[in-house]
Amino acid sequence: MAGREQIIDDMVLAFENDDSDPNLCSVFYGARGTGKTALLAYLSYRAQQEGWITANVTASEGMLEDILQRLNESAAHLIEKPASRRVNSVGIAPVGSMSWENIDVEFEGANWRTKMNALFAQLEATDTGVLIAVDEVDASFAQMTELVTTYQHFVSENKKVALLMAGLPFRVLALLTGKSTSFLRRAAQHSLGSISPTEVKEAFRLTIEDGGKTISDEAIDLAAKAIDGFPFMFQLVGYRAWNASRQASEVSIEDVERGAKLAQEELESRVFASTAAELSRGDLEFLRAMNPVGTTTRQELAARLKKSSGSISTYKKRLVEAGVIEEPLQGRFEFALPGFGRYVASLY
Ligand SMILES: Nc1ncnc2c1ncn2[C@@H]1O[C@H](COP(=O)(O)OP(=O)(O)O)[C@@H](O)[C@H]1O
Ligand SMILES: [Mg+2]
Repeated sequence: MAGREQIIDDMVLAFENDDSDPNLCSVFYGARGTGKTALLAYLSYRAQQEGWITANVTASEGMLEDILQRLNESAAHLIEKPASRRVNSVGIAPVGSMSWENIDVEFEGANWRTKMNALFAQLEATDTGVLIAVDEVDASFAQMTELVTTYQHFVSENKKVALLMAGLPFRVLALLTGKSTSFLRRAAQHSLGSISPTEVKEAFRLTIEDGGKTISDEAIDLAAKAIDGFPFMFQLVGYRAWNASRQASEVSIEDVERGAKLAQEELESRVFASTAAELSRGDLEFLRAMNPVGTTTRQELAARLKKSSGSISTYKKRLVEAGVIEEPLQGRFEFALPGFGRYVASLY
């Protein structure tokens, strides 16, 4: 997890503290490939090590039931299982056989909050925390809102509970500004930006050395250039360069060159091509009018595209929602995916 030490340290501290650490309700946002899913999985693992039970789910209709089932799975070693089936009275069963009756009936018709409360009640004796991690948040799911509002009750009832959420910036923003989820504005917000060159280099070296090989400074510099701070590329360049080195004890400059080339091709075919295929001609025209690297102002775009400000706004909104561009400051646009600007410029 290159470049995420601070976030991880803060979060682990929150799992260790039993008082209400603000990080226990956290949102993580970043463009595709910035490592949101990987981070949620890792934090969940660390929470488990601190004795929490965890549920990692993806936002969807049906996520609440998924959370219950994942938590039950995670708690299996702690909870005294209410025998899910019990022997019917022998008198009723035909001689020599037994019939089973489901006693989940006890909770049939109960809503999510009630079922969760039953779980909390069982965990209380062991002071076990409950962590819910939701990936790809999307405020348009009714259950997303229900989760957040119910979580608010858990917090006010002093339950030992944590809610971690991750998603694309605009989706997280929609969630934070939603009427019924406004409680989340107080959540700790963590932006998963690009990883600094120093951190990339250090993590790259450590990963190679952990694997039992060596690598020169020159080869690392080359890898860091290809990675460009993008976690998706970190994993890919490392994996490809490692494979290119085969049985050798060193990952050479040539291996990194080869790895970087393969990684770039994979990035283009796996991420860029599928992203571009979802865009209209007008969208692509808009993107080509942007500076491939750095910022483009609304004025520049209007001049280059010879379009009205209103039509610029329409395209901009769609492209931001697609996770392709960002508007970090009003009227200033940037590509959200590193390298995608150069990619669209190279199309044709
Ligand atoms: N901090 C990191 N250091 C190194 N590699 C990472 C890091 N975060 C993510 N990755 C790798 O980058 C790739 C994309 O990560 P992922 O979590 O799927 O991104 P997202 O969910 O934001 O789209 C994965 O292969 C993952 O292993
Ligand atoms: Mg993801």
